[in-house]
Amino acid sequence: MSATDPLLLVPAPLSVRPLEGSPFVLGPDLRVVVGDTPEEIGAGVLAAEVIGALVDTPLGLQTGDDPAPGAVHLRLADDAGPLDADPTERYSLTVTADGVEVLAPRAAGLLHGVATLRQLLRPGPDGEVTVPAVVVHDAPRYEWRGLSLDVVRHFFTVDQVTAVLGLMSELKLNVLHLHLSDDQGWRLDVPSRPELAARSSGTEVGGGPGGCYSADDFAQIVAHAAARHITVVPEIDVPGHVNAALHALPELTPDGVAPPPYTGTEVGFSRLHRDVPATRAFLQDVLGDVAAMTPGPYLHIGGDEVLTMAPEEYRWFVRTAQDVARAAGKTVVGWQEIALADVEPGTVVQFWDPRADPEPFAAAAAAGARLLMSPGSRVYLDMKYDADSPLGLDWAGFVEVRDSYDWDPDAAIPGVPADAVVGVEAAVWTETVPTLEDLFVMLLPRLAAVAEVAWSAQDRRGWAGFRTRVAGLAAGWDRAGYPWYPSPQVDW
Ligand code: ACM
Repeated sequence: MSATDPLLLVPAPLSVRPLEGSPFVLGPDLRVVVGDTPEEIGAGVLAAEVIGALVDTPLGLQTGDDPAPGAVHLRLADDAGPLDADPTERYSLTVTADGVEVLAPRAAGLLHGVATLRQLLRPGPDGEVTVPAVVVHDAPRYEWRGLSLDVVRHFFTVDQVTAVLGLMSELKLNVLHLHLSDDQGWRLDVPSRPELAARSSGTEVGGGPGGCYSADDFAQIVAHAAARHITVVPEIDVPGHVNAALHALPELTPDGVAPPPYTGTEVGFSRLHRDVPATRAFLQDVLGDVAAMTPGPYLHIGGDEVLTMAPEEYRWFVRTAQDVARAAGKTVVGWQEIALADVEPGTVVQFWDPRADPEPFAAAAAAGARLLMSPGSRVYLDMKYDADSPLGLDWAGFVEVRDSYDWDPDAAIPGVPADAVVGVEAAVWTETVPTLEDLFVMLLPRLAAVAEVAWSAQDRRGWAGFRTRVAGLAAGWDRAGYPWYPSPQVDW
């Protein structure tokens, strides 16, 4: 890795070759030049926006051939990037004194190339900005590189989620999992049950105003993410974590009486009931609505911490939710507890609590499930960094940057083979995280560590190199206005 260290790239690319020769100097005729497909133009628009913001100048976008020096070229090319990697996200980036060329088989790769270029920009003397001459060939280790954001315990607006998506795209993360329902609130207005948003969105932990996404708001988040090749995975958590649903729809309770709103932080006390007549239609309609609002292939059904339900009834809920999702054309994602039910091949089981017996996960993998790695002791970014952290919980221990970095997802669960591991997802629960500033302090720098775990091959990365490279990102975070935690494990 030593050759890449001076280039301060996070996540570390598969291969980086510095070239002899002068750097590229971003000059007055800087422009973005793309091919004329919609994918190239879409990537070009974003590239012009991102690079233009960094040099404080609006950049022009041209299509077609433009051999004059001084441009950033983006082109789709099937033979770009490391050829033995999946074409979906791989890319090549070449920088010479004449200009920049990003080549990729697909548009996602073009944007990854632009994200790499962004980290290579260097302020020079006289206010000029330069990029060192280099060739990068790059592709991700895992296809799922996610962040789970709890917008229930504290609500985050569309603009705030948009800011998080910007950070994710800088780190080449490609899945935003939104935890949209829980005991403390309901955050997505769904057409079949308008009472959910009307009666249960105005609460959050600590008594704040809460909030809710309209169908248009949600579509805006999905579109903003899609332009950055980030898939939104919506989560409706059933059959537990449902106090907000029971409050809005008392017909879901055995006695027909609505429980009061809940703004505390306990878990495990609320549940749906198989034998209540309204339950099945609730699952069918609400999961069906959310599936219809979501262009991505996944629907997350929660399934965690149902502490007061017999196993047989729990299995019925997982089976029913799976059936609804499948009928809607979606692949089911669920927290690790669903491994105790009958999971179908292809279902994504999200590992979160390392205290659990690993055997059911190995059995689920053997039955064709895929494992998404979110071990709390590594990637729960709502854990405190250390005993002095003003924000955060500590049930999974303190999680410093190195804890988030120094692990191998393929080896995280004994008995689960590497080819069953679909990827890595950080999670931030927001019981103690009320503002966007607080959220960024919990995310950074740990999200950069998780992004490298998810993107970079295990033998291409190491703590000593990461420690140096992540320090190089801090100036960019300051420029972008992202608050971050100056971990003592890094020389900033
Ligand atoms: C969880 O942390 N209850 C998934």
